[in-house]
Amino acid sequence: MCGIVGFCSNKEDGVDASTILLDCLSKLEYRGYDSAGIAVLNDGDLLIRKAKGRLSNLINLVEKQPVEGFVGIGHTRWATHGEPSDINSHPHTDVSNDIAVVHNGIIENHVKLRAWLEKHNVKFRSETDTECIAHLIDFHYNGDLLLAVTEALKRLEGSYAIAVVCKSEPNSIVVARKDCPLIIGRSEKYNLLASDVTPLLEYTREVQYIDDNQIAKITPTSVDIYDVEGSKIDVEITHVDWDMQSAQKNGFEHFMLKEIFEQPYAIEQTFKARVYAGKLDLGDITEAVKKAKRVVIVGCGTAYHAGVIARYAIEHYARIPVEVDVASEFRYRDPIIFEDDLCLVISQSGETADTLQAMRIFKKKGAKIIAITNVVGSTVSRESDYVMYTQAGPEIAVASTKAFTTQLMCVYLLTCALIKDETKAKELMAELETLSTKSQLIIDRQKEIQRFAARQFNKPKVFYFGRQSDFAISLESALKLKEINYTHSEAFAAGELKHGPIALLDEDTLVVATCCNKTLYDKMDSNIKEVKARGAKVLAITYENNKEFDTVADTVFHIPETDAYLSPILSVIVTQLYAYYCSVNRGNDPDHPRNLAKSVTVE
Ligand code: F6R
Repeated sequence: MCGIVGFCSNKEDGVDASTILLDCLSKLEYRGYDSAGIAVLNDGDLLIRKAKGRLSNLINLVEKQPVEGFVGIGHTRWATHGEPSDINSHPHTDVSNDIAVVHNGIIENHVKLRAWLEKHNVKFRSETDTECIAHLIDFHYNGDLLLAVTEALKRLEGSYAIAVVCKSEPNSIVVARKDCPLIIGRSEKYNLLASDVTPLLEYTREVQYIDDNQIAKITPTSVDIYDVEGSKIDVEITHVDWDMQSAQKNGFEHFMLKEIFEQPYAIEQTFKARVYAGKLDLGDITEAVKKAKRVVIVGCGTAYHAGVIARYAIEHYARIPVEVDVASEFRYRDPIIFEDDLCLVISQSGETADTLQAMRIFKKKGAKIIAITNVVGSTVSRESDYVMYTQAGPEIAVASTKAFTTQLMCVYLLTCALIKDETKAKELMAELETLSTKSQLIIDRQKEIQRFAARQFNKPKVFYFGRQSDFAISLESALKLKEINYTHSEAFAAGELKHGPIALLDEDTLVVATCCNKTLYDKMDSNIKEVKARGAKVLAITYENNKEFDTVADTVFHIPETDAYLSPILSVIVTQLYAYYCSVNRGNDPDHPRNLAKSVTVE
């Protein structure tokens, strides 16, 4: 989704803003975008370059038409209002091109604002909602950009993170946020801003997380943060531990492959962050967990799937009822939440708009919230009562892999804490400790999956089915293939086959049958036979010592044995690799799938 960046330095230091802005934008590419642009202040001038398409188009343009200067803002746009085009790209300016704005979010009352501004003789150039912001700031500008932005924001409805520069104030950038992420990077000689921490890592590790309804004035040597009333507020400077290496490809062809390969380490780190000498230590979460009568889980996409798997595990091991919903449904369905519910919010980025709103419903109802997130300082982490961080490191590929398996490790650790019987909890923890090594064994055999994908990447229909946790992981497996291979793939509970999906099966169909629940092998065996009888090809994923499906399925991939409820953390690695290699075989770019954004900060 749209990303904003900014850089503010002194002329004497001679650091070219456009170089830094373009570099920062390249680190936001993973969020998904369809055009990009920058605005640089230069000796009383405001220079703007924008280009539709990949960032390389903008880089080429800047090479041909350089923009020298020491202060500037930049943007990658993911089109919402108006098609991807040079004109609709950000930055947008006021009528006289004195003020430039970049924006992430959606201005919901833009139609009304546009009509009002047009009545005041404003001629719009683009179809975007953002352009209103530039004109409104101009309308309120009277020699003080901070004040003009503060006044303009009062008229906006919707969500935004904005950065604004103005010709008459060549040494500053004004930024503000509501419901979209915004982070300021602090350094001695310059300051920066970005939509997430990754672009800042090259330049600083000291950051300030701007909160909703805060406005900041950034100069090369200062950052002053205010609330909407104009009162100054102190915002703590936080040190970020993530290193640059983990945000680079390190010889892998794609981030996605690198992140799949990092899973054994990430799973181990997530386990070790909470288990010391065989003892689970969830800190202050332990008390909240003890009181839980029911667990309610929300998330979107892959994070929601982690929630579905959590439901099976928690209900089975801890015998506590669990409700799980996609955040975008939950927030509009008038949900019943009790004060003694334990609410679990799962979000890799910690910035997903629907998930945030669902979390705020939990808060209103007085329930305690545990966030499972990968991003320290994200909105979800700051607004929840407790946080379990996934130790995945930066996840750059749009399709989530290591963030998902570490989310699973977190929910399994929480499950251990919810189990009343200590011996049972210890047994489960002992099995959790083996999962990193077992996941490595699958990755070591990735060539087998690569070969399978080379034969099967062009199937027009791929269905995933299973029962219980195997069904839950089928949802995630189907999503991965859709996202990066653009294949029509669906997941369904194997028992539902006869209730409809069977009508879709034919010789062109590949069915991936996940069979990691021993008590249900016989049922899956029948389902596979039903599928085969309709001409579909079957890949079965099951445990290494189980030969039951060898004669029924066309191909069997064996994974190390574990408990049925934990098996998704292993079986998913097979389907991640399958999706990845299908995508590469098709000539797609798995790191930048079409139409998708990494961080979905608008509804
Ligand atoms: C799938 C994927 C998305 C995200 C979803 C939620 O590979 O990445 O489905 O899982 O957009 O994102 P977070 O976890 O950041 O809230």
